[in-house]
Amino acid sequence: MATKKKSGSKNAVPSSMGRKTAAMMVEPAKGKLGVMVVGLGAVATTMIAGVEAVRRGLAKPIGSLTQMGTIRLGKRTDNRSPLIKDFVPLADLKDIVFTGWDIFEDNVYEAAAHAAVLDPDTLKKLKPYLSKIKPMPAVFDRYYVKRLDGTHVKTGKNKRDLAEQLRADIRAFKKTVNRVVMIWAGSTEIFLKPTAVHQSIEAFEKGLEKNDPGIAPSQIYAYAALKEGVPFANGAPNLTVDVPAMIELSKQNAAPICGKDFKTGQTFMKTVLAPAFKARMIGVKGWFSTNILGNRDGEVLDEPHSFKTKEESKLGSLEYIFQPALYPDLYSDIYHKIRINYYPPRGDEKEAWDNIDIFGWLGYPMQIKINFLCRDSILAAPIALDLVLFLDLAKRTPELRSIGIQEWLSFYLKAPQTAEGLYPEHDLFIQSMKLKNTLRHIMGETLITHLGLDYYTHAE
Ligand SMILES: NC(=O)c1ccc[n+]([C@@H]2O[C@H](COP(=O)([O-])OP(=O)(O)OC[C@H]3O[C@@H](n4cnc5c(N)ncnc54)[C@H](O)[C@@H]3O)[C@@H](O)[C@H]2O)c1
Repeated sequence: MATKKKSGSKNAVPSSMGRKTAAMMVEPAKGKLGVMVVGLGAVATTMIAGVEAVRRGLAKPIGSLTQMGTIRLGKRTDNRSPLIKDFVPLADLKDIVFTGWDIFEDNVYEAAAHAAVLDPDTLKKLKPYLSKIKPMPAVFDRYYVKRLDGTHVKTGKNKRDLAEQLRADIRAFKKTVNRVVMIWAGSTEIFLKPTAVHQSIEAFEKGLEKNDPGIAPSQIYAYAALKEGVPFANGAPNLTVDVPAMIELSKQNAAPICGKDFKTGQTFMKTVLAPAFKARMIGVKGWFSTNILGNRDGEVLDEPHSFKTKEESKLGSLEYIFQPALYPDLYSDIYHKIRINYYPPRGDEKEAWDNIDIFGWLGYPMQIKINFLCRDSILAAPIALDLVLFLDLAKRTPELRSIGIQEWLSFYLKAPQTAEGLYPEHDLFIQSMKLKNTLRHIMGETLITHLGLDYYTHAE
């Protein structure tokens, strides 16, 4: 499709919906964007190596909406579809600086070689850059990730002390860049439910002091980020910022947050297919999903307490999309089962099978089988990059930075986060429309409703 860069160029005066005043305009992405990654494993190293490969012109950023996507502006007859990155002022890839923490001392080259997602030839070309990124010691506790044990960890007198050490890491990094975003690409922690310690900032801070077991390492990182006014994304299904204390802190310090758990393979497919069945009033009796994967993530998820966290995150989508209370004849009796099996020979090349038992006209049964041979981190890396870039955009957008949860980023996440009392929107296409309309809105463009009657009623 032809793109007209000019119409959507950075900081262009919005064309409709009233002009935005200077105070409402998105601030430009000046200088360096520092990206602090928690957990330099398969996803993180694939993202970092990928960004460097793209910067050097060795590869294209396939799968990244911020880098490759366009956005339609105005009427279909206007032919205005700039690239998203030309329409909203996003940080340029060349301005991204990476750092991070891990419980292992491996630099990013070594960690990427261990993850074995990218081929050795590509990694060798990037080695001088990747080996310079060395992790800072992590905040870690085996109680929360039972299958891992690392030596590269911070020690402190209590969780508050550890949080202060992370804040010091953030402040030191801030001196070298212009803006900072944090993303959790660390392991899946054990399943935790919100408790009293998560109900307010005050209770949380007391809990840090008293080493409350309800506070997991991911929450110590998130707390440190939000205290420093740094946006925080969560690629894992951990509870982390999904509690009142963090939402409050996010609003108070203008540090945007979003949902959790990168929506990559099987759930991505679910949130495409389930809306299609519902749109056509096709019933569903059962949905059985199983996976084999052999990377470190698979090893961690092989442990029942970590698996429970992932299972909860994956289960939600169908329930919300199908709305069984509204459609009892179609969706009130679905058997939904998810299995993840650790199978080392496959490494990062996960294989997922779905069997879907559906029924149609007069209740006649049918079946659909999906066999997705995917690459976990190849799917997750562009999502991690987009989340980082969009959270940085949110932080520079007066209308977005102090609202806390950025629901428009649900598009990327298995478990979207919403305001209290709102059900999450899982349908990928609604999420996509919400994301693009948010971008149109902050740039003062007309929202697209797809009504389109004016093409017929006002035809000249
Ligand atoms: N790859 C995908 O498609 C996908 C999709 C959704 C979610 N996720 C989630 O993303 C996360 C990362 O996945 P991955 O495949 O890169 O896993 P990985 O095991 O390769 O990497 C995780 C890294 O985090 C480190 N780590 C664990 N706890 C830490 C802590 N407290 N502080 C610092 N580092 C810590 C580990 O040492 C490891 O290097 C996992 O939670 C996974 O469930 C991945």
